[in-house]
Amino acid sequence: MSVQAFDLRDDDRRPPADDLIEVVQRGLRARPKRLPSWLFYDERGSQLFEAICEQPEYYLTRCEVALMAAHAAEMADVLGEDVRLVEYGSGNALKTHMLLEHMHAPVSYVPVEISPEPLRRSVQGLSERFPALSVQPLPGDFTRALRLPIPPRAPRRTVLYFPGSTIGNFEVREASNLLRKMRNEMGDGGGILIGADLKKDAATIEAAYNDRAGITAEFTLNMLVRLNREVGSDFDIGAFRHHAHYNAMAGRIETFLVSTRDQKVRVGKQQVSFTAEEAMQVEYSCKYSHADFAALAAKAGLEVAQGWMDPLGMFAVYYLVRAGSRVRDAAPPLR
Ligand code: AVI
Repeated sequence: MSVQAFDLRDDDRRPPADDLIEVVQRGLRARPKRLPSWLFYDERGSQLFEAICEQPEYYLTRCEVALMAAHAAEMADVLGEDVRLVEYGSGNALKTHMLLEHMHAPVSYVPVEISPEPLRRSVQGLSERFPALSVQPLPGDFTRALRLPIPPRAPRRTVLYFPGSTIGNFEVREASNLLRKMRNEMGDGGGILIGADLKKDAATIEAAYNDRAGITAEFTLNMLVRLNREVGSDFDIGAFRHHAHYNAMAGRIETFLVSTRDQKVRVGKQQVSFTAEEAMQVEYSCKYSHADFAALAAKAGLEVAQGWMDPLGMFAVYYLVRAGSRVRDAAPPLR
């Protein structure tokens, strides 16, 4: 394997503390109050997310892994030879390994990841498993425009891999903007292989975000721990609780931090009042029907060339291409 050198200190684009405080203060001025979900992912938050993926109620990871076990070989055939694979995030390397195992002479693998530790770990894991693969890590925020490294040889196409249903953490407009950005990055003839959690009964979905062991609650509250440390706020962690419920009309889990009493919190020079039971919105996790996802893709000038589901029909992976570029009826759009 060749691993291109990278310097995390130079390229790490996490916002400096001043910007962070500005983001937080703006969110706390909004009505209702809201904070962006990317604030979850400090080092502890990333560890807690990994623990969530192992909870019995959190079916998403298990189902996506089962889907990859059943269909990764077929996906690799659809992607074809000489692909440059760019992954948005490098969180759970297991799915990437399952895909790469079947890919035909991939040109390079480019993990795009903002957190140094997961990036380092994924590069190390890949080097052990795929000694011949060229790995070109790109430290940074995948929601911003990317400057992809020059590949070691000319790829036939660039495929962006975005597993985990992380697209569901973006509201519709942001999600379609992100997909449009990906459409530009993949170029003509490229594609997007993307995981999406499917709509199903509310109880199953709600349980996944309210695990009995309380890991998701700790993950949600950790956002306040992070803010206290990084922006010097004085949130009383014991005076907030995690609340996640499925809004069936909107097709999404809505997660809140709820104030358990009237209280004031200092964030920089700002004093913020919370009333008892006031809910601050911190995350959406959108769920899709096949039609919902096709409509989202269409907003970004993309179409579903093919799709796969896990054996239980809980989770889907779609292969998206530029609208109008699919060879009509070459394959059924969903398997
Ligand atoms: C990363 N993302 C897809 C997870 C989800 O299911 O929305 C984040 C998460 N939040 C709570 N549990 C898991």
